[in-house]
Amino acid sequence: MLVTRRIPEAGLDLLRAAAAVRLWDSDQPMPRAELLRQAADADALLCLLTDRVDAELLAAAPRLRVVANMAVGYDNLDLAALAARGVVATNTPGVLTETTADLAFALLLAVARRLPEGARYVRAGQWTTWDPLLLLGRDVYGATLGIAGMGRIGAAVARRAAGFGMTILYTARGRHADAEAATGARRVAFPELLAASDFISIHLPLTPETQHLFDAAALRRMRPTAYLVNTARGPVVEPGALYRALKEGWIAGAGLDVTEPEPLPADHPLLTLPNCLVVPHVGSASVATRDRMATLAAENVLAVLQGRPPLTPVPLP
Ligand code: GLV
Repeated sequence: MLVTRRIPEAGLDLLRAAAAVRLWDSDQPMPRAELLRQAADADALLCLLTDRVDAELLAAAPRLRVVANMAVGYDNLDLAALAARGVVATNTPGVLTETTADLAFALLLAVARRLPEGARYVRAGQWTTWDPLLLLGRDVYGATLGIAGMGRIGAAVARRAAGFGMTILYTARGRHADAEAATGARRVAFPELLAASDFISIHLPLTPETQHLFDAAALRRMRPTAYLVNTARGPVVEPGALYRALKEGWIAGAGLDVTEPEPLPADHPLLTLPNCLVVPHVGSASVATRDRMATLAAENVLAVLQGRPPLTPVPLP
């Protein structure tokens, strides 16, 4: 089996106890040609969201039986190609829900209260006195939060928001009665979410329907005092439109854990804006959660190789 990056030992230990493991022992992705070459005799692939698993890779890996993505999102997998080849795909839902919701809330608080600006100010030696007009932000407590996508992570963000006395709106294909009962959340249409929220947090998978859902028209519907938080997938937001929205004051600020492109180059225009906070896709990055993700991905691999049903399969078309 092939593991395409250094991952937490907990996952590697499980795999090594059961089978021969080839590890790309690096903190950088496998170059594509290397991945195609090393997949040639692999019966299993434990991969990351930075690896594209498509018909080309599957054709190069005739013995492959399972692709275990160490992520909950799986837009890097070509599900039709996997189905056509009869290869099982798995992801890591559930284990990263609370950790990712924590990060969404951290970004929300950070941009609302201007923490990055404050930290820069102190380090630059500008802190000379207490100032009644210094770095005034927006209240989170009591504000209205719009949650785009009320899945596991969206619902976990709603629980945090309830603790902050927030009014919670959400969009979703169907009603989420449990989340409504637990947090008082109310389902609305997308235009209302945009117009009525002080904060919007995105918790949608990346699909053809959600790609660039937050385009110029959507961002223009938001309040000029509102903040956008994205811990889902970068391409749900149209980056050129977001830049204009932040630069021209259509919205007040953004906190991004995911971007388009990703990684974001250091000279990207978004990084010139004081009201845009970008962190490097660390939503699930706690010690315990990365251990659980690696372990779950390894358990999925072993289940399939040993003829058992996978724990968390991705539904194939
Ligand atoms: C990370 O982005 C994940 O999908 O788990």
